[in-house]
Amino acid sequence: MIVTVEEAVRILKAGGIAAIPTETVYGLAADACNEQAVLRVFKAKNRPPSNPLICHLPDAESISRYALSPPAWAAQFWPGPLTVLLEHNGSLAPSVTAGSRFCAFRIPDHPVTQRLLSLVNTPLCAPSANTSGRVSPVNAEMVERDLGSRIDGIVDGGPCRVGIESTIVQPLGAREAFILRPGSISREDLLGAGVLVREGSAEKSPGQEAAHYAPAVPLLLLSLSPETDAAALAFTPERTLVLSFGPGPSPQLSAECKQWNLSPGGSLEEAARGLFAAFDRASRMDIDLIVAADPPKNGMGAALHDRLLRASAFLGYCRHGQLYALPREGNGV
Ligand code: TXA
Ligand code: MG
Repeated sequence: MIVTVEEAVRILKAGGIAAIPTETVYGLAADACNEQAVLRVFKAKNRPPSNPLICHLPDAESISRYALSPPAWAAQFWPGPLTVLLEHNGSLAPSVTAGSRFCAFRIPDHPVTQRLLSLVNTPLCAPSANTSGRVSPVNAEMVERDLGSRIDGIVDGGPCRVGIESTIVQPLGAREAFILRPGSISREDLLGAGVLVREGSAEKSPGQEAAHYAPAVPLLLLSLSPETDAAALAFTPERTLVLSFGPGPSPQLSAECKQWNLSPGGSLEEAARGLFAAFDRASRMDIDLIVAADPPKNGMGAALHDRLLRASAFLGYCRHGQLYALPREGNGV
């Protein structure tokens, strides 16, 4: 059910749960200081209690009430799609952090949710507003179809501007950070802000399992080289959707395949904006297989590659109109 910002404020203050728009994806919000409300979020999403939630605040200054201050460089990305892990002071509901001494914080850049946050006057924990294991919603209709009957309301803020989830970092001292989840704030953006970006991670992000983003239709990511010892995959061209990115030739499979180019002009931002909505549309079409080209790895491309890899059931390559594939471990079809 679509509700106004004022109705959402009443719902959240009374311990209810409501979906809210952000610039990345829609979140399923609850008062992060109300343990019962937080538990309802886990239940509605069928999310394992070991997977902690991101807290949303209206500005960086408010963080100091709940945690150690963020490093100075973080402020230049806020409000925006950057989530920072900080040592918290124990004043949030315990389930938010799933027992970790770190809590993830983000200042979202969406006018509707900014207004909501200033009216509600409490941190809002908000994981992506989807059942665990499904694709993050990028419009109110996706939330309604998935969670509509299990939550108290949805604030419709239109389609999300970024379209993939925030970049999650764990700071290490004043000028270093691990990237736990790539997003639209790229490695290059962080380097440009003087942050030394480290590989690997100090803290494992519990929600980063291999199969996290699996769409309903199996996806084959074209990321192997033809030298790989992969087996030929039988496919029906009329029941196959090819997703491509950028102006180059799309994978030459068969003229009968459906073809969607998510960014004919080559803008990775545009491609990211369309990716989850494309998964959603594809899952409601009568097809057996999505074949996705691998986007370039620079800038936003790293985050796109990450989401496609998590969504993939197969890795493969295409040669002379034939698909060669290897099933991806842990991602059954
Ligand atoms: O863009 C976003 O980040 C969206 C919008 C709604 O803000 N939120 C989102 O939340 O993607 P969620 O729960 O779907 O993904 C958050 C990720 C999970 O992988 C979770 O494990 C990780 O952040 N995370 C949250 N708190 C953490 C913590 N204290 N330590 C380590 N990882 C944490
Ligand atoms: Mg999620």
